[in-house]
Amino acid sequence: MSASRGGFNSSIGFIMAAAGSAVGLGNIWGFPTQTASNGGAAFVLVYLVLAFFLAYPAFMAELLIGRYGQANAVTSMQKVARTSWQKRFGFAVGFGGVLCAALILSFYAIIAGWMMSYAVEPLAKLASFTDEAKWLITHTLPRNILFTTLFIGLTILIIRRGVEQGIEKWSKRLMPMLIILLILLIAYVFTLNGAQAGFAAYLNPDISRVFDADLLISALGQAFFSLSLGTSVMIIYGSYIAKKENLVSLGAQVTLIDVSIAFLAGLLIIPAMYVAQAQGVAIFAEDGSLISGSSLVFTVLPALFLNMGAVGLFVAFGFFVLMTIAALTSSISMLEGPVSFVVERHNIARKKATTYIGVAILLLSIIIVINLEWMLDFIAILSTQYGQPLIAMFCCIFVGWIWHRNDILTEIKQGNSEVESSLFWKIWPWYVKFVCPTAIALVFIHSL
Ligand code: PHE
Repeated sequence: MSASRGGFNSSIGFIMAAAGSAVGLGNIWGFPTQTASNGGAAFVLVYLVLAFFLAYPAFMAELLIGRYGQANAVTSMQKVARTSWQKRFGFAVGFGGVLCAALILSFYAIIAGWMMSYAVEPLAKLASFTDEAKWLITHTLPRNILFTTLFIGLTILIIRRGVEQGIEKWSKRLMPMLIILLILLIAYVFTLNGAQAGFAAYLNPDISRVFDADLLISALGQAFFSLSLGTSVMIIYGSYIAKKENLVSLGAQVTLIDVSIAFLAGLLIIPAMYVAQAQGVAIFAEDGSLISGSSLVFTVLPALFLNMGAVGLFVAFGFFVLMTIAALTSSISMLEGPVSFVVERHNIARKKATTYIGVAILLLSIIIVINLEWMLDFIAILSTQYGQPLIAMFCCIFVGWIWHRNDILTEIKQGNSEVESSLFWKIWPWYVKFVCPTAIALVFIHSL
């Protein structure tokens, strides 16, 4: 690895960074609400199985491409390719991933900006800035632009500092904070009236739904989004892992953390909703399903915090800081995808490239903010429902069908000399070759 490229200093540095990318709004917001509307623990069960049997193998494919290539996603894909059509294909897939990461960041930053403004609101209230507090939680164009800009600004500041001083250092600081905050909030909600009913609703599996096609599709989509697949992000993070590290176990640890935090988030959100219900807040929509989406985070939960009185200010602050941290460790990975591409392929200094690309993405975010009604959903669907699965599928095809099995083995053996006789090596090559692409294709076709 050339010294100027940088890389993670330790396995824990990689684990925190990759888990930071994986754990985001998808875990803390998406997972609990999907669970609530998809048969409770039945969804958790299916999610667990799919995360380990489909998302983890695909995740390993991306990490391996990156560590082999020791370069940005496009260059790494092209290093695996041998013939000229394969190189063109590699370029398209790698570049598609880079674009997808940029698109996701452009809408993710808007939502993260809302989390930030809701985190500042209790502070404004504590300082008796009543009008300002109200402004912070009222959806207006100036507020949205201000907080989207602040959030992208923070992301740019971290990425400008590079892999060790930016991504690794901040992930190692923020991820433990996130876990502590999450556990404190769960413990507090646990003591409140109504929480028990929430636990029961969350943990009671409706087994009849386990083979429900919609449930399977939602769970697989959620698992792919959560592991940040199909966005070049895990390829680039893989390229920063030292050759002495055991990729198979690092990947499994990250998947485990990702799944566990999603599960913990469910233990917070669902009981909190039932606590809100016990206090008279409506938590079911007209069709009888639990309220999800933005009304959950920006209406139901704030109503609960308000009912808590003075403590509610601290709980609200803790909750929205948690959301902001989760979003930030994900957004830095999204920006790293395009930045590493431009730095390495076009020989532009990291700081300059980060600022230019960050500002370009911010401009796109502002255009989305101005056309929020239709554009937010449009960009989100384009990038996460079309882009991510297709690119993740092509990565699996690349590894399964183009990369020679022996070359993969040579790469994976570094840091894991016993791998050839392991269960992983008996199963995984078939998985990436047949099972993953087929499953992703099926889900993709069904979701159309
Ligand atoms: N995995 C992140 C989440 O769950 C989102 C993400 C998607 C991050 C794509 C990076 C790339 O919120």
